[in-house]
Amino acid sequence: PKVTLINPDNTRTELEVAVGDSVMRAATAAGLDGIVGDCGGGLSCSTCHVVIVDDAYFAKAPEISPTEDQMLDFTAMEREPNSRLSCQLVITDEMDGMVVRVADPQL
Ligand code: FES
Repeated sequence: PKVTLINPDNTRTELEVAVGDSVMRAATAAGLDGIVGDCGGGLSCSTCHVVIVDDAYFAKAPEISPTEDQMLDFTAMEREPNSRLSCQLVITDEMDGMVVRVADPQL
């Protein structure tokens, strides 16, 4: 499945993410700056914050766990209604075409 990332500088990066892999892992493997993924997906850093652009895809994403929900309240860029931690966005075929905005570390 393909996922498009809108970087903080408004450029777009299209990534091919394998089913079962997370957006964070695919983005760090591709060397993208905006997603740091400090904790390696352990739900303890929040440096993988993204906002899903389209509500329809937000609904298709895996459910938010209570831990992720708590972590989202302490992200550098303020949480938005469609905020997710991209290490928890494990890709399914249904999520093909999803567009996410990478959180701006300056905010
Ligand atoms: Fe640390 Fe997602 S990579 S919370």
